[in-house]
Amino acid sequence: MHVDVLPEMMPACIRRHPALMMQRAAMQQEVNPMKYENIQTSVEGAVALVTLNRPKVLNALNHDMMTEIADAIDAFAADDAIAAIVITGNDKAFAAGADISEMVDKTAVEMYLSDHFARQWERFTSCRKPIIAAVAGHALGGGCELAMMCDVIVCAENARFGQPEVKLGVLPGIGGTQRLVRAVGKAKAMDMCLSGRTMGAEEAERAGLVSRVFATEALVPEAMKLAAEIAGMSRPALYMIKEAINRAYETTLAEGLRFERRLFHAAFATHDQREGMRAFLEKRAAQWTHS
Ligand code: CAA
Repeated sequence: MHVDVLPEMMPACIRRHPALMMQRAAMQQEVNPMKYENIQTSVEGAVALVTLNRPKVLNALNHDMMTEIADAIDAFAADDAIAAIVITGNDKAFAAGADISEMVDKTAVEMYLSDHFARQWERFTSCRKPIIAAVAGHALGGGCELAMMCDVIVCAENARFGQPEVKLGVLPGIGGTQRLVRAVGKAKAMDMCLSGRTMGAEEAERAGLVSRVFATEALVPEAMKLAAEIAGMSRPALYMIKEAINRAYETTLAEGLRFERRLFHAAFATHDQREGMRAFLEKRAAQWTHS
C-alpha cells in the first residue's frame, strides 16, 4: 500500500508550479511502482514508513525484498514531500537476517559475480535523508546490519540484536563486523560475532547501539513522532549533519573537524540560518524555506 501525499502537504514551491506538480507525479510513478510484494510503504505528513513484510520467515531478507527496500528508499529520496523515513518490521521480527534458503547452495563465484547484497545496500546508504530503524523482536545478521545502516535505531523492549552468522559457518556480510565495532566497541562486537549471542534492548541502549527503548506497542508511533520532529527541521541543516556525522566514521579527527567547520561556514549561506537565529531572538517558531 502506498498512500500518496495530498497536494496541500507538498512544499509551496512545488504547489505553485503546475508543471512541477505534473513532473513530480510522473517521477513518483516512474520511481515508485507501488507494486511491492515484500514490503509496505505509507506516508504520514513528511515522513515515509517502510514496513518489511515477509512475516512467515521473520522478514528474512531475500533478493526481491532487498531490491524493493532500495527502490522504496530511492523513491522517497527523490520525493520532495518526504523529509525523513522510518523502517520497521513487525512485533516478532525486524528481520531475522539474510534469507538462508536463498544462499545455501550458492558458490563463491556466484556470490562474487552477483556482488551479493552490495548494490541494494549501497543505494540504501547513499540516501541523504535521515532514516530511523524501529526495531521490535529479532534483528539478526542482515537484520541487525540493516538497522545499523540507518541513522538512528530505536527499539522495543523485546528487541534482540545479534550477528549469529558464526553459527552458520560464515561471517557477517553487510557490515556487521565493521559497524558493530563502531557502535558498541571491540569487546562487545567480538563477543557477539564470535559467539553469535544476542543482545537485548537494555544492553543495546547501554552499549550505544540504540538511542531509545519503547514499549512494543508504542514503538512505531514513537518512531514516527521522532521522524516528524526531525522532518520539521531545516533540510539543508539535516543533510549537513548527516553528512558530517557519517564522515566521522571515515576520517581522522582533525580532518573531520575541518570538514564540519567548512559545512558550518557553508550553513551561513542558507536562508534557514538567518531565519533560525532570528526566530530564536524574536522568540517565535522558525519558518523554514529549506533554502
Ligand atoms: N532465512 C530464512 N528463513 C528464516 C530465517 C532466515 N534468516 N530466519 C527464520 N527463518 C524462517 C524459519 O526457517 C522458519 O520457517 P518455517 O516456518 O518454514 O520452518 C520461520 O522463519 C520461523 O522461524 P523459526 O521457526 O526458526 O522461529 P523461532 O521463533 O523458533 O526462532 C530465530 C527465531 C531465533 C530468529 C530463528 O529463526 C533463527 O535463528 N533464524 C536465523 C537467524 C540467522 O542465522 N540470521 C543470519 C542469517 S545470515 C546473514 O544474515 C548474513 C549476513 O550478514 C547478511
